[in-house]
Amino acid sequence: MNRFLDLADFPREQVKDLLGLASRLQQHPQPQALAGKVLGLLFLNPSLRTLASFQSAVMRLGGTAVVITPGQGTWQMETRVGAVMNGAAAEHVREAVPVLASYCDAIGIRMFAEGRDLNADLAETGFNMMANLCDKPLVNMESAASHPCQALADWHTLDELRVPERGKFVLSWANHPRALPLAVPASTVHMAAMRGMEVVVLRPDGFALPEQVMNKARQAAQASGGTIHETSDRRAALNGAHVLYAKEWGSPLHYGDAEAETRLRAPLADWCVNDSWFKTTREDCHFMHCLPVRRNVAVADEVLDGSRSVVIREAFNRMVVQMAVLYRLLRG
Ligand code: CP
Repeated sequence: MNRFLDLADFPREQVKDLLGLASRLQQHPQPQALAGKVLGLLFLNPSLRTLASFQSAVMRLGGTAVVITPGQGTWQMETRVGAVMNGAAAEHVREAVPVLASYCDAIGIRMFAEGRDLNADLAETGFNMMANLCDKPLVNMESAASHPCQALADWHTLDELRVPERGKFVLSWANHPRALPLAVPASTVHMAAMRGMEVVVLRPDGFALPEQVMNKARQAAQASGGTIHETSDRRAALNGAHVLYAKEWGSPLHYGDAEAETRLRAPLADWCVNDSWFKTTREDCHFMHCLPVRRNVAVADEVLDGSRSVVIREAFNRMVVQMAVLYRLLRG
């Protein structure tokens, strides 16, 4: 394995093998496995979990990390091809990425969607440009349309909780003051489909996931024996659910149009997950969210602080699965 950019790049058995390695490294730590290795982490967007879990993962395997957050102790960076750099950015990623890669044994890059052109973001135009600048093993730490480390951690969490592979997995849209990117919902729906689950995407009108995202998930479901469908009927969607996974995302219909998006979501404040959402789920239904989460906007305190919530476990499992990813990238 030389790149970890999207779960769809790997057959299901290879993902399960990676999860097996994660469990083994969790149970039998190998504090010297990556001794002498250097991981470079380039964050073009903010983070708590990804930043801390990658640093912790590489250090627990004996390696070390160099973290670059442009504009915070390092030069502000330009990402646009052909830009006239007479603004705040003093360095272009065309130099910065190969320079960082030359010091390191592997690189992680976080570069969110630009949020202007849906097709360009779904095609990963920005991240692919960055990836082409890097000649070392590379990890996607969240791009425009994919967050594979989050998806892998969530799969590991489902396995730990012994949620059946054919269980009902509901990915629900949740309220947020502004449009958020599609990377997590796209990776989550794909992960659950690839795991073989009965996947339901629950969202209000106007927030259907793009066809490219749903088609990719459908193909994964077909290969794994899972199913997938989309609805705005909350009661039907949640009936008998094993898992409710909440996530905020922007409307693909009004991509890049903040005013239209604000008008569309104005009447949707009741898409804040509270205890009443679990009336018709299974008694032992788990609540998942990738974090960060806006309390009492997207999810009520009573859910986040209640016994169903596994959000802290999901975040912990980021470190666990990323140890496996780094092990495979750096040791084969
Ligand atoms: N879930 C996740 O990626 O969290 P951060 O944005 O804090 O890294």
